[in-house]
Amino acid sequence: MTKRSGPVRQDNRIKTLMHVTPQDRLFVLTGAGISAESGLATFRGSGGLWNGYRVEQVATPEAWAADPELVWHFYSQRRRNAISAQPNAGHIALAKIEHQLGDRFYLCTQNVDELHEQAGSQRIHHMHGNLFQSRCTRCNQPFSDTALYETAATLPTCDRCGSPVRPHIVWFGEIPLDMDAIYRKLERATVLLVVGTSGSVYPAAGLVHIANQQGTRTIYIGPEEPLNHEAFDEILLGTATELLPALVP
Ligand code: OAD
Ligand code: ZN
Repeated sequence: MTKRSGPVRQDNRIKTLMHVTPQDRLFVLTGAGISAESGLATFRGSGGLWNGYRVEQVATPEAWAADPELVWHFYSQRRRNAISAQPNAGHIALAKIEHQLGDRFYLCTQNVDELHEQAGSQRIHHMHGNLFQSRCTRCNQPFSDTALYETAATLPTCDRCGSPVRPHIVWFGEIPLDMDAIYRKLERATVLLVVGTSGSVYPAAGLVHIANQQGTRTIYIGPEEPLNHEAFDEILLGTATELLPALVP
């Protein structure tokens, strides 16, 4: 298979490339780019800034320890944006592909929004947590939570033990959720399709290297090359809504 591809419109090419036989198992990894056309800002698109802060300054255990109000303000704003967002043709295409492939399909997302679920995805794992869940810093049990906490007076505490409640999000420096399950699924995959992630945050950015070691075909879809582009067999330049619908059998 040739490396790197030129033209921007590649929806015919993608169909040939992504021809999945009944023996194939598809592992899909998505990042912020798949929700971009639903109106949710990517992390690095805005220069990685939020209100003048770098994402790394608000999405870390250190930020939480220093200023939980700032952290909750950030995630409350993201909740507000995500609540009104709708899945786009990219999310919908992946849900349709899953419908065709059943257990031969697995979706691992770095996103904390629920647009994949809203589009109908079922075999999905949120490796970086869920924006609409919170958890007590002591009891650690995640629960559904769509509330906004934007002032010091409204910061949530646990009903049971009174400890601070935090977003159920994997921050920089924390270990993504259920990596073992991810590795097990990847081990069995024959095709790895990565969509809309800059390839800058590990371990997610390292999945393509594991796939390479085991001989799994690797394809990237997004409007620009990711940082780890050299690791992919194929790069298809285009947006999620332009290219993913062409994959639906
Ligand atoms: P980034 O913001 O780093 O990258 C978004 C990627 O999406 C870029 O490579 C864009 O080219 C691409 N993109 C933009 N528009 C697109 C479109 N319409 N269709 C397809 N792709 C598009 O986001 P992530 O790589 O997801 O972690 O970031 C990884 C992690 O870093 C996030 O999960 C988050 C962040 O900090 C945590 O919160 C722990
Ligand atoms: Zn508690």
